[in-house]
Amino acid sequence: MTTPVRDLPLLLLGADSDPASERGVDCPGDLPPASDPGLVARAEAAKAALGDRVFVLGHHYQRDEVIRFADVTGDSFKLAQQAAARPDAPYIVFCGVHFMAESADILTAGHQQVVLPDLAAGCSMADMATFDQVEECWEALEDLGIADDVVPVTYMNSSADIKAFVGRRGGVVCTSSNAKRALDWAYERGSKVLFLPDQHLGRNTAVLEMGLSLDDCVVYNPHRPNGGLPEGTLQDARMILWKGHCSVHGRFSLDSVNDVRARVPGVNVLVHPECRHEVVRAADQVGSTEYIIRTIEAAPAGSAWAIGTELNLVKRLATQNPDKQIMFLDKAVCFCSTMNRIDLPHLVHSLESLAAGEVVNQIQVDADTAHYARLALDRMLALP
Ligand code: 13P
Ligand code: SF4
Repeated sequence: MTTPVRDLPLLLLGADSDPASERGVDCPGDLPPASDPGLVARAEAAKAALGDRVFVLGHHYQRDEVIRFADVTGDSFKLAQQAAARPDAPYIVFCGVHFMAESADILTAGHQQVVLPDLAAGCSMADMATFDQVEECWEALEDLGIADDVVPVTYMNSSADIKAFVGRRGGVVCTSSNAKRALDWAYERGSKVLFLPDQHLGRNTAVLEMGLSLDDCVVYNPHRPNGGLPEGTLQDARMILWKGHCSVHGRFSLDSVNDVRARVPGVNVLVHPECRHEVVRAADQVGSTEYIIRTIEAAPAGSAWAIGTELNLVKRLATQNPDKQIMFLDKAVCFCSTMNRIDLPHLVHSLESLAAGEVVNQIQVDADTAHYARLALDRMLALP
């Protein structure tokens, strides 16, 4: 018997190393209490008052109470495209996390303002690669005389600083939807790739989609001298993986897969590529959040699916597909706590403030960083 998604114990993950929360970044002004029964009506009224002046983007990991107000929902790639395609809306409210709102600010025009309803909605993975650490790594590659052979590729889940670093050095941004295409592009330009900051997406794409071996991949630990690697390792590697990971997807284990297969005969295991390599290998299918949604929508009635991604999305898929058996891949369920920071009170606060003419919680990337980060983002958007 499978435990329904709604009955599982809950964990909140992802905020431990969130520097915004450590700095005590709070919303200015008064947040409405979550107990206010009028919140839905207030959000509707503020959004109606703003009309075409506001465009609300919602990542698939957002809460239902927030996603219902999104003009468009998507994975990070689709949302970046959508932000770039809305030059007429002066306000973009980004229901997602900090790096996504930064990318939206970079991709939108100067007269547009991007709002993140809670400034503390960071991403622990993005925080695992700081600008200084990446500079230091690059200097190590220069000292070894191999930097010219290396093309940097950064996952969308990285700060604007890191994207700018990559843009300056001829690299590209990728998302979980286009990582293979980005790596094809990079290997046409250099014999090695420095992949930031998610080691799992980098390894899974290199080994399972590009035909590289695990021995071609090395993990660079920014907290150790020379990445903690023995001499000669960086020279021989084809894929230099940054030691970063997602605290939500990193929880799924091979045991989770074996356990669900034993409990639910015939179950299809569908996971996000931020999961560990052994989990992705043991799964039946792997793909971005958009891919996961499309796969479930196209699945036959009566089929059973164990999904390894964030819980808000899995719960929504279970509700929207009552004719299929949808379950969470792991018994200890996790939401992404930073995604979950965007709740209805924060959304109401942002929309009402905008309707009153005050822009709160704006995300603004400085012009120099934005210029170089845009180079790397535009290279991604131009991938075939
Ligand atoms: P995608 O939206 O690219 O599937 O990535 C998932 C994720 O972890 C976003 O933070
Ligand atoms: Fe970051 Fe993982 Fe949360 Fe995505 S799910 S925002 S990668 S911590």
